[in-house]
Amino acid sequence: MAQKVWGGRFQKDTDGMVDRFNASIGFDRRLYAQDIAGSIAHCRMLAKQAIIDEEEALEIIEALGEIKRAIERDELSFNEGHEDIHSLIEDLLIDKIGVVGEKLHTGRSRNDQVALDTRLYMRDAIHSVIDLIKNTQFVLITLAEDNFDIIMPGYTHLQRAQPVLLAHHLHAFHEMLKRDRERFQESLPRVNVLPLGSAALAGTTFDLDREMVAKELGFDRISENSMDAVSDRDFALEFLFNASVLMMHLSRLSEELIIWSSQEFGFITISDAFCTGSSIMPQKKNPDVPELIRGKTGRVYGHLISLLTTMKGLPLAYNKDTQEDKEALFDAADTVEICLGVMSRFLEAITFNGGRLREAVEKGFLVATDLADYLTSKGMPFRKAHEIVGEMVLFAIEREKELSDLTLDEMKGFTRQIGEDVYDWLDPMSSPKRRNIPGGTGPEIVKKNLERARRELEA
Ligand code: ARG
Repeated sequence: MAQKVWGGRFQKDTDGMVDRFNASIGFDRRLYAQDIAGSIAHCRMLAKQAIIDEEEALEIIEALGEIKRAIERDELSFNEGHEDIHSLIEDLLIDKIGVVGEKLHTGRSRNDQVALDTRLYMRDAIHSVIDLIKNTQFVLITLAEDNFDIIMPGYTHLQRAQPVLLAHHLHAFHEMLKRDRERFQESLPRVNVLPLGSAALAGTTFDLDREMVAKELGFDRISENSMDAVSDRDFALEFLFNASVLMMHLSRLSEELIIWSSQEFGFITISDAFCTGSSIMPQKKNPDVPELIRGKTGRVYGHLISLLTTMKGLPLAYNKDTQEDKEALFDAADTVEICLGVMSRFLEAITFNGGRLREAVEKGFLVATDLADYLTSKGMPFRKAHEIVGEMVLFAIEREKELSDLTLDEMKGFTRQIGEDVYDWLDPMSSPKRRNIPGGTGPEIVKKNLERARRELEA
C-alpha cells in the first residue's frame, strides 16, 4: 500500500484485507479526468485568492496535465495499492513535484472531490443518454413512416381489440422515450451544482472563491449547505430512477418484439445479424437481443433499490457507505447506453410481414366497436348497441364467421337500424380512418404526430 493521505495519526499499518476492502480504485479510476479537472479548477482558484503562489499553481497544473496524459496512454498501473482515484492522483502529483504538490489539497476534502467527480461524471452520462434516446426515437419514427400503410391489431389484455396503424403503435413508444429524455434533461439543473468548497463538512477557514470554480467547471450554481453537499446522493438516485423507467420502456418494447417475432404472431422478421441459434435445435433463430434488454432491466432496477437502501440510514455528513454508489451508477449508465444503442440497430434490422398483420386484423371481430358506433350513429343508445353487437358476435362465432361475412338479412334480424352502408364499417382496413381524433389512430392524426415528432427531433 502506498503512503496514506491520512497516515499521520496512525501507529500501525492498515490490515491488508482492510486495504482491499476499503479501496475503490478498482472502479473509481474511471473518474480520473473529472478528478483532474476539479483539481485544476481548485488550484487556479487557490492562486487567484493568493492562498498559493501563481508559480506553484502553474507547476501543479502542468503536473496534473502530465498525469492525465500518462493515464490516457495507459502508462500507469492502478494496482499500486492506492485507496481511491483522489489519493492516487494526489500521490502521483507529490511524487512528481514534491512539496508544492502537497499544497493542492488546501481547503478541500476527498468528500468534496468524490461528490464533485460523481456529479461531473453524471452530467456527461446524462448528455450521452439523452443523445442515445434521441437516436432511438428517430429510428422508431423512421420505421413508422416507412410502414405507414400497415394496419395491425391493437391489443388490450393481449387480446385483439381494434385495428390500429402500426405507425400509431410505434409512435406510442416514441412518446415514452420522449418523456424519458425530458426526465433526464430536467434532472440536469439538480446535478449541475458545485460541491467543492465544502471542505469535508463545515466549510473552510480559507477564503475560497467557489463561484469561480463553479464557472470554470461549467456548473450552474454552488451548493448552499456544506453538510448536504458532501452527503447528498439524490442526483445519483434520480439518474437511477430515470434509467429504470427508461429500461422499463425498452423492456416493454423488447417484449413486443419478442412476441411479434414468434411463429405464433409472425409479425416481424429479424435480420440474422441480430439473432442467435441453438446448440441443439438446428432450426432455431432466437431473439436474444430484446431478451437481453428485457433481462438487463432487472439489474438497473436493482441499482436503484440498492442505492436507496444504502442511503436511508446515513447520519450527516459523509459516510463511507456512499462509496457504494459508483458501481451502481457506472453499471446503470453503461447498461442503458448499450441497450439504447443495440435497440436502435435492432429496430433498423426488422421487417414487418404485411400479410400476417393483415390476416391478424381480419380475424377476431376487431370491428365490433365500429359496429356499435355505427348503430349509435343511427340513433341507438350506445349501451344498447354494445349489447346487440355482443349478440351478433356470438351468432357469428357459432357459425365460424366474421361480422363482415354475415348477410344483411342476418344482421337485420338483430336490429332494423342496420343498412347496406354497414359493410364499410365492418372492413378493418377502413376502421382507423374513422378515428382522426387528436391522439387517435386515424391516419391524418398519426401522420401529423410523426411530422411533429420529426420536427422536434430535428430541432
Ligand atoms: N473513495 C471514497 C468514496 O468513493 C472517497 C473518499 C471518502 N473520504 C473519506 N474520508 N473516506 O466515497
